[in-house]
Amino acid sequence: PPMQSCLLILYIKKFHLITLSFPKESREGFVHVNILFPALSSVSVCVRVQWDPEWNEVSTIFSYAAPVFTNEFQLRGQADMQGQILLALIIHGKHLPYKASFPNDGAWHHICVTWQRSNSHWAIYVDGDKKDTGTGTDTSRDIYGNGILILGQDQDSFGGNFTEPFFGNITDLNVWNTSLETRHVLALNACSPITQETLFSWNLDLLRIHPLVKEIQGHTVKFY
Ligand SMILES: *[C@@H]1O[C@H](CO)[C@@H](O)[C@H](O)[C@H]1NC(C)=O
Ligand SMILES: *[C@@H]1O[C@H](CO)[C@@H](O)[C@H](O)[C@H]1NC(C)=O
Ligand SMILES: *[C@@H]1O[C@H](CO)[C@@H](O)[C@H](O)[C@H]1NC(C)=O
Repeated sequence: PPMQSCLLILYIKKFHLITLSFPKESREGFVHVNILFPALSSVSVCVRVQWDPEWNEVSTIFSYAAPVFTNEFQLRGQADMQGQILLALIIHGKHLPYKASFPNDGAWHHICVTWQRSNSHWAIYVDGDKKDTGTGTDTSRDIYGNGILILGQDQDSFGGNFTEPFFGNITDLNVWNTSLETRHVLALNACSPITQETLFSWNLDLLRIHPLVKEIQGHTVKFY
């Protein structure tokens, strides 16, 4: 699998990254990213995900809700019948197509999503490849500030009413206030750091973790 070229386990050890495990025993698990968001004219979110291959319902990797608008920016996925996980972005409430995909193989995959207001261009990258891209959301405006970023759950109301849980493992989620370019995404996928300044860097001190979500030290992460 592509992640092998990245030696993920060494990377996790090197950066002392903790993996968060969302177990299927409960639909309640979530993680709240405790930072203040400014209004954003561009954004990128990258994350490493190990999908539970036995879960077939719509799963939310992250949801960002603003006080005035809940479905502001969201990444979700769902297994199809052909052994793939299909990903879709929601931007300003507009549900973009389920198209970008990766194999539903239980392995780690690297996902990046980017958006910028100036040309209303968005993209979904998987394992360094640009898998889907487009322009246009319903309105041209910044992503509202002062929102709540939740990992592993959809927010049907601002910061609450979680309905579409994610099951599996998540680590190394980072947020930028710029739209990363393909070369940046390729570097990240290959576990090379980039110099772009982050709005949020994966850091447990800034996460409020529901007790059902387990923290796993790097060395126990299964390496495919
Ligand atoms: C949240 O969920 C509760 C219980 O299902 C429901 O009564 C309420 O209307 C929901 N609120 C919103 C804003 O969706
Ligand atoms: C992004 O964040 C950095 C650091 O907080 C800031 O200096 C910069 O102006 C921001 N860029 C945009 C486009 O908002
Ligand atoms: C999450 O990681 C743990 C620890 O490596 C592993 O036991 C579990 O199978 C992983 N979950 C999934 C869905 O791959």
